[in-house]
Amino acid sequence: MWALNHSRAAGMVTVILWDVFPNMIVDANAVQEAARALLDSPVFHDVQKALPDDRMDQTLGAVARGELLGDIRYRVQPLPELIAAGEANDVTLVYSQSAIECIWNVADFWRAIIGLTKAGGWHSHRIDLSDHGRRETNYIEMLEWSPIGYYVTMRFIPGAINRWRASTHMTFLAEAGLKILSASRETREVLPIPRSRINRMFRSLDEVDLRTTAIDLVAVKQGKRQTSGGGVDPGCRGHPKDRPYS
Ligand SMILES: C[S@@+](CC[C@H](N)C(=O)[O-])C[C@H]1O[C@@H](n2cnc3c(N)ncnc32)[C@H](O)[C@@H]1O
Repeated sequence: MWALNHSRAAGMVTVILWDVFPNMIVDANAVQEAARALLDSPVFHDVQKALPDDRMDQTLGAVARGELLGDIRYRVQPLPELIAAGEANDVTLVYSQSAIECIWNVADFWRAIIGLTKAGGWHSHRIDLSDHGRRETNYIEMLEWSPIGYYVTMRFIPGAINRWRASTHMTFLAEAGLKILSASRETREVLPIPRSRINRMFRSLDEVDLRTTAIDLVAVKQGKRQTSGGGVDPGCRGHPKDRPYS
């Protein structure tokens, strides 16, 4: 699921939920309950203590009481159609949760979604980097396959995962105009298989990159509102010439 959240300047938040498969029913009660759950959450209280924001409290309170309902649109369509419709230009926030790993043409996706983001706009993504079949027993099973073997078996399976690693995403995003503010990895302690079993395309990746099973990224689009230099977490080595797209 994707939420693209436009500016609040007009007094109305437009949220575009984008997917390529119909996976949900947009329900006003669910939005109301989510706002209530957020207001009641101890984590949210901690954030509010650290960064008080009366407007956020008031807006969430109004949503929780059913006094305010945002302009929520659910779009199930290929990304080019969403772009062509023109309703997702100059997006303020792009958010995703365990979805980017399912996008096969992920370089094209990143370029397109960054193109829709306004300068100074935010990105927040959790990317699940584990093999989706053998998550517990061999979380990098997909990296054993040759490029051609992976392509012919997975290319036409809806929702099959791509094989980008954390460093691939971060290097690409920095080059595509996002400044990465935070990159938090979830890692396993040991590799589940010897390196010799990993396809040579991935075999020389950093050990940490291979042991990373998920990454939470926060980034901002460079532009007029953001003038400091772009970059990538210096602890993560990129692989610009060897981007495993599939
Ligand atoms: C693992 S589910 C995650 C759903 C939800 N975000 C969550 O955390 O429960 C992956 C989501 O990515 C969507 N998805 C799969 N392939 C996609 C693609 N090529 N482009 C955009 N979204 C895709 C699926 O339809 C699904 O909603």
